Amino acid sequence: MSQLAIFQKWALEKTEKEMLRFISEQTGQKDLASSMLYSVEAGGKRVRPLLLLATVASFNQEVTFSCIQVAAALEMLHTYSLIHDDLPAMDDDDLRRGKPTNHKVYGEGMAILAGDGLLTLSFQLLSQAQLPFDQKILLIQQFAQAAGPKGMIAGQAADILGEGQTLDLVALKQIHAHKTGDLIRFAFKAGGILAKQTEETVATLDEIAQHLGLAFQIRDDLLDIVSTTEALGKQTQKDHLLEKNTYPALLGLDGAKQALENELTAAKKQLEQLKTNEFDFHLLEEVIQLFSLAKGV
Ligand code: IPE
Ligand code: IPE
Ligand code: MG
Ligand code: MG
Ligand code: MG
Repeated sequence: MSQLAIFQKWALEKTEKEMLRFISEQTGQKDLASSMLYSVEAGGKRVRPLLLLATVASFNQEVTFSCIQVAAALEMLHTYSLIHDDLPAMDDDDLRRGKPTNHKVYGEGMAILAGDGLLTLSFQLLSQAQLPFDQKILLIQQFAQAAGPKGMIAGQAADILGEGQTLDLVALKQIHAHKTGDLIRFAFKAGGILAKQTEETVATLDEIAQHLGLAFQIRDDLLDIVSTTEALGKQTQKDHLLEKNTYPALLGLDGAKQALENELTAAKKQLEQLKTNEFDFHLLEEVIQLFSLAKGV
């Protein structure tokens, strides 16, 4: 097993457990709890908690229970975004994480509320983490900004408004940077903050994350075309049907693959800047590999 694979197993088991514990403990209505747990327990690659926790570990800092709680909060928020993304009023999808989408099982009303519940609980969990107050306030503020109407929500809004129109590359890049990139940026920055790194180092992590966030969504756009429903656990060939703005639609398959490669190369170049004695370069190097089309998560 690779160094990352060993770390991944350990860290994600803990994150998983904490999400289930917190949702079960803090949800006061049993059908709502079932609906929330359904989407969380359906699985998913857990990329964002892995990025956050691997970043902490790469600075040779202990991955404490508080770090796990921040990672769990991030995955809960991401899961809410998927439940809402799949709603008939948005991408209208029937399959997610290999299972029928939340609204297909629990109905639209409950799916909206399950998303609301996960969103709210993610902030509660973050606020309850045993961290120094200044660190915690900074994390909450960055989390809100990444997930909110200047971040992920702005990207999601531009994504649905752009359906049926052909946007230029600058506008498309903005959509991807926000709808997907901002949570990936939070994962890296939070990892740096929890590992008590300087503002300069956190800024370098942010640069890496901007490239990887864009890469992740280009890869998602490509997989919609070149992968299968079985492999992804979600319906493929959907973006064309919804007339979405995507990298392959704008640049062609080869152009999109090249754009993905360019982002990964840029991320690796930024990572070189962190090559110091106290930094485990190889762990994050392995993390970057997860974003390639060939290997990948
Ligand atoms: C899907 O995210 C939505 C995007 C932002 C591309 P993931 O590909 O991380 O989905 P899960 O969490 O593994 O289901
Ligand atoms: C979703 O992007 C991004 C968020 C959920 C914020 P997509 O709509 O492309 O994600 P999939 O393909 O449904 O997973
Ligand atoms: Mg969408
Ligand atoms: Mg979608
Ligand atoms: Mg997609």
